[in-house]
Amino acid sequence: MSAVDWSLTWEDDLDAGAHAELAGLLRRCFPRSRRLDGSRSWASARPEVRLVGRRDGRAVAHIAVLRRYLRVAGDDRDLLVGDVGLVGVDPDQQGRGTGRLLLVELAGVLDGWALPFGFLTTSDDLTGFYAAGGWARVPARTRMIEPDGRVEVYGGPSMVLPVRSPMADWPAADVVDRNGYEV
Ligand SMILES: CC(C)(COP(=O)(O)OP(=O)(O)OC[C@H]1O[C@@H](n2cnc3c(N)ncnc32)[C@H](O)[C@@H]1OP(=O)(O)O)[C@@H](O)C(=O)NCCC(=O)NCCS
Repeated sequence: MSAVDWSLTWEDDLDAGAHAELAGLLRRCFPRSRRLDGSRSWASARPEVRLVGRRDGRAVAHIAVLRRYLRVAGDDRDLLVGDVGLVGVDPDQQGRGTGRLLLVELAGVLDGWALPFGFLTTSDDLTGFYAAGGWARVPARTRMIEPDGRVEVYGGPSMVLPVRSPMADWPAADVVDRNGYEV
């Protein structure tokens, strides 16, 4: 299998062709999503930057990041994170280690930005995938704005990657506030 070439593209620099290519990839990765309908390359929040892996020129892996501050009730600290989403490997390339490479590459990007933590919300069946990449599930649930505008506490797993800060610096909190949409 050929090597993966990685590139970072800032959201303002996504031209129509790149956008269409990523929308197609994400449609294949998330076939049940109504929002990733093949014409949009984002589901909820638009990210700041895309990390894309290409094999033989074709986009086969994608992850998106938005830097933001989470808020913790009763704690005056703002928690700077790289909020991560739109994690996908093209179905015809899954199960061969590309997702693992994607998480390694992402960790390097977050470290390059000197971020304390990476952060994401996911589903129970995927916590093992992220844990293998160094992410840890935290007890806190995430309060956030749903795509329809409702503010809800997400019931699924919230996970953290210690980047420049140790896990011990993550606050013991029941709820963290995203104050925005999921990427
Ligand atoms: C999740 C996803 C990115 C993983 O990519 P991948 O290239 O298949 O992953 P890898 O082959 O590198 O697997 C890495 C490890 O994670 C595990 N893993 C992969 N997909 C998994 C899944 N869906 N559930 C649980 N574990 C999974 C693998 O078993 C492997 O572990 P191992 O090395 O101990 O065998 C890919 O399956 C995908 O795009 N899924 C659809 C979109 C999606 O659900 N994205 C995540 C949204 S939060």
